[in-house]
Amino acid sequence: MDFWQVIEERHSVRDFDAERDVPPEMVQRILEAVVRAPSAGNCQPWHFVVVRSEQTRGLLAEAAYGQWFIADAPVVIVVCADPARSASRYGSRGVQLYCLQDTAAATEHILLAVTALGLGACWVGAFDEKAASKALGLSASLRPVAIVPIGHPTAHPHRTSRRSLQEVTTFEAGNQGIRKSGNQAMGEPDH
Ligand SMILES: Cc1cc2nc3c(=O)[nH]c(=O)nc-3n(C[C@H](O)[C@H](O)[C@H](O)COP(=O)(O)O)c2cc1C
Repeated sequence: MDFWQVIEERHSVRDFDAERDVPPEMVQRILEAVVRAPSAGNCQPWHFVVVRSEQTRGLLAEAAYGQWFIADAPVVIVVCADPARSASRYGSRGVQLYCLQDTAAATEHILLAVTALGLGACWVGAFDEKAASKALGLSASLRPVAIVPIGHPTAHPHRTSRRSLQEVTTFEAGNQGIRKSGNQAMGEPDH
């Protein structure tokens, strides 16, 4: 699958074939793609917990307020941030911003790699961090930031809509100020 097709094909999958496993070689390929994600100062303030046990998948689903599709996926990767690693170089900006941006980039790499392999996944951000940490026995230095169930999709969800490019884009025009393209997000040109 080429890059543009991966972008087009990626969508959140919440229905997994509980009978079909994801082989360890595929998980390995995903993880190798994930660590190629960019990070501020190449700090790589992340840790990935690969979960296969039914019990832990159930506990993660519970921590995610009953998003039970997490338990149906044969593999779940929990993306954790390591704020101290970012702090050691960037102080509070590392803790509050970079470690979260870096782990978000890593999470998107998971989704793209999963798609390229013909699998499905969903980025789950709504969960009780304490409950997820407890389920995984995480060290206090790690913050779980995304739960990503991965498996073979049983259905192809509808393509989700997007706000128009016109609404979300502004083309800056150098010394002529801002050329608006539908919103006021960057303010009026000052001429
Ligand atoms: C930060 C973040 C948190 C999300 N949390 C959840 C979640 O808890 N549960 C869920 O089912 N989907 C979650 N999603 C997936 C979004 O609902 C989904 O990406 C969005 O609706 C667009 O659909 P698509 O991924 O199919 O393009 C999350 C996505 C992001 C980026």
